[in-house]
Amino acid sequence: VKRITAPDIASRKGDATPIVALTAYTAPLAALVDEHAEVILVGDSLGMVIHGLTSTVGVTLEMMIMHGQAVMRGARRAMVVIDMPFGSYEESPQQAFRNAARIMAETGAGAVKLEGGSRMADTVRFLAERGIPVMGHVGLTPQTTNTMGGFKTQGRDQADWPAHIADAKDVAEAGAFSVVVEGVVEDLADQITDAIAVPTIGIGASVRCDGQILVLDDMLGLSGRVPRFVHKFGDLGPRASEAIASYARAVRDRSFPGEKQVYR
Ligand code: KIV
Ligand code: NA
Repeated sequence: VKRITAPDIASRKGDATPIVALTAYTAPLAALVDEHAEVILVGDSLGMVIHGLTSTVGVTLEMMIMHGQAVMRGARRAMVVIDMPFGSYEESPQQAFRNAARIMAETGAGAVKLEGGSRMADTVRFLAERGIPVMGHVGLTPQTTNTMGGFKTQGRDQADWPAHIADAKDVAEAGAFSVVVEGVVEDLADQITDAIAVPTIGIGASVRCDGQILVLDDMLGLSGRVPRFVHKFGDLGPRASEAIASYARAVRDRSFPGEKQVYR
């Protein structure tokens, strides 16, 4: 199987059929997502979703590389994109390149993603010109939760729209092959999609984005409370709980292990 590339994704701008993207953090779930999605994001959301952190600020480069390697082992066809964690790229284009190159070399992934609009444009260009495909991420950027004062929908005040549109334009024009648009009001998301020449991947954005992404554990119903923009396409949490409860009962009443589970 030929793996999907950054140019393949970039060429989907304006397609009738949107790009299907999901996160994954482990090999077995990456293998399942690989059957249905074109893009698998190893999101730094893994800090909150599977490591129990309260924000993505504490996620390290080592965590991203380790989960990136696991996902690459599970996925054969989808393009794998790995988030650059907080603190690994903001300082300078050089710092970003050094850490992005480590991610690419040690995982074999197809691209990195980094948060921020106009202020990150020089960094996006520095990486893209040197062989590292970059996915942008504008609107609500969870790594800046401490300066934003929490996770807040962006663009509720129309006065802020030009700055958000400039953010998306600047990273796209700097060479990003696609841009995640997160947590913005629908009309702003649509204006961003119309304003840039590469695909927008929406999350809490608009059905008219060029693609959609969700956190896998959220849409599977594995992560408890989820933002309003998540639709739970599955309800695995309660089903896992039932299975664990029946295991516990079977151990306690000595019906497990049964005849078929012992060697004679
Ligand atoms: O970390 C993440 O999972 C993300 C997506 C939700 C876009 O950045
Ligand atoms: Na992220």
